[in-house]
Amino acid sequence: MSDSGDSPRTLADVVADTAPADLVEDGFLTVVGAIASGARRVSDLTRRAALAGMLGDIGEINVQGEIVQVLDAAGTDAFVSSLRDCGAVAALACEELEEAVFVSDRADHPYLVLFDPVDGSSNIDVAVTIGSIFAVYRRSDDAPVTDASLLRPGREQCAAVYVVYGSSTVLVVATEGRVDGFTLDPASSEFLHSHEQIRIPSQCAAYSVNEGNQGNWHPEMQAAVADLRADYGLRYVGSLVADFHRDLLKGGIFLYPGDVKSSAGKLRLGYEANPLCYVAEQAGGAGSTGSERILDVQPEILHQRTPLIVGNADVVERVVAKLAE
Ligand code: AHG
Ligand code: MN
Ligand code: MN
Repeated sequence: MSDSGDSPRTLADVVADTAPADLVEDGFLTVVGAIASGARRVSDLTRRAALAGMLGDIGEINVQGEIVQVLDAAGTDAFVSSLRDCGAVAALACEELEEAVFVSDRADHPYLVLFDPVDGSSNIDVAVTIGSIFAVYRRSDDAPVTDASLLRPGREQCAAVYVVYGSSTVLVVATEGRVDGFTLDPASSEFLHSHEQIRIPSQCAAYSVNEGNQGNWHPEMQAAVADLRADYGLRYVGSLVADFHRDLLKGGIFLYPGDVKSSAGKLRLGYEANPLCYVAEQAGGAGSTGSERILDVQPEILHQRTPLIVGNADVVERVVAKLAE
């Protein structure tokens, strides 16, 4: 039951009522519906993975230099199809595809979507929580869409969406000033309103980092994490969306720093850091590279990597201050 005790409302109904009117007028519900459609498909494949031939890899390396898992490819197909065919998306970019997909320059296709179809791929084969992440922008004008149209700072997002395929499948939608969660009901296949106006709790409950990389961190990052270790327990799933969703609902801070091997770290700005930092900020949190607000970074390339520190704003600020000492 939702907070009011009535039967929970559907994703479409709540977003129609709560998203900014101009987005709704310009087809935002169609974009959310396309994401939800792909998410139902990925959730079903995830739940049946071994039985659906979704384990292991396809023997190819993607643009990230990573081995493509079978579910990565299936998730890419599901979301590319639903977003390309929905009738409101002008172009899309996907972690698994080197180049953007240009759909239409028509004025009635005002949206651009950058996405990570399956986040946490190393966890697929061991049945640990994975996710999908989407950054949504409006075209800045009616000019034909080009690669440059997709290189927008995260502060220009009009919305962000992520899905976490965990003990339940939860789809989270953030628009200006509001974050809501919807749980997939297996009986009806509807995403039903289950988390109303999410705000990150004031108290940080845990820090989340791959401590196994500690030897590669720069000294100031080692000091900053030691400072967190003194005050908080450690939680680390190894799927960004799972760690982020826990921190959003319970309070926490997630870090994937740059290190001596890779100054930009591992995570991607366009479809991991930007959408999740947009969600965090709309829920009262913050996201930083360690030296600047993630949402202010001007991307230079589509698959750009960035260091990421995201979660409770006061703790993000504490880490940034420690790094500056
Ligand atoms: P993806 O599966 O989309 O490549 O993302 C994996 C990312 C992210 O989900 C997670 O936080 C991080 O990889 C974990 O990296 P380590 O295994 O190096 O900790
Ligand atoms: Mn990812
Ligand atoms: Mn991925």
